[in-house]
Amino acid sequence: MAEELILEKGNKDEIYSSLIPQIKALIGDEKDLIANLANVSAALKQAFDFLWVGFYIVREDELVLGPFQGPIACTRIQLGKGVCGTSWEKNKNMIVEDVDAFPGHIACSSLSKSEIVLPLAKDGKVFAILDIDSVEFATFDSVDEHHLNTLCRWLESIL
Ligand code: SME
Repeated sequence: MAEELILEKGNKDEIYSSLIPQIKALIGDEKDLIANLANVSAALKQAFDFLWVGFYIVREDELVLGPFQGPIACTRIQLGKGVCGTSWEKNKNMIVEDVDAFPGHIACSSLSKSEIVLPLAKDGKVFAILDIDSVEFATFDSVDEHHLNTLCRWLESIL
C-alpha cells in the first residue's frame, strides 16, 4: 500500500486524473466497505481541502453517517430529505451551487455553500452516497461529476 499521496498541482481535472489512480492503488484488493470509504474520504479531502467529504450508508430506511473527513455531521437522513436523501431517492447525482437555494437542504455546517452528491448502487439499488461540501458557492461542475462518477463506478465494482 502506498503511504503518501503525490498531490499534483494544476487544475482540478489534472488533480483528479492524478489522484484517482492513486486511490485505486491505495485500496488495491481490499474489500472492506468502511476501510475503503474512509481512505477515499481522506484522499479527496487531502487533495482538494474541501470542507467535508464523506459517505452516508443506506441502513434499512435511512441514510446513516459513514466514514468522513471534516466537521461533525448529521447522523441520519431520511429518504427524500435534503440533497443526500434526494440523491438516494432518485438514484441521481446532484450538484447544488447554492445550498440555501435548495429546498429542504440539511445544513450540517453553516460554512457549507455548495455541494455535490453521488449515489453508489448495486443492481440499481443505492447502498451509499458520496457527499462533498465546499465553503464556496458553485464549486462543483461537470469536471467533478465526471471524475467522481469514475471513482464511484469503480467503487461499486470492487465492493
Ligand atoms: N447537506 C446534506 C446533509 C449532509 S452534510 O452536508 C454532511 C443534505 O442536504 O443532504
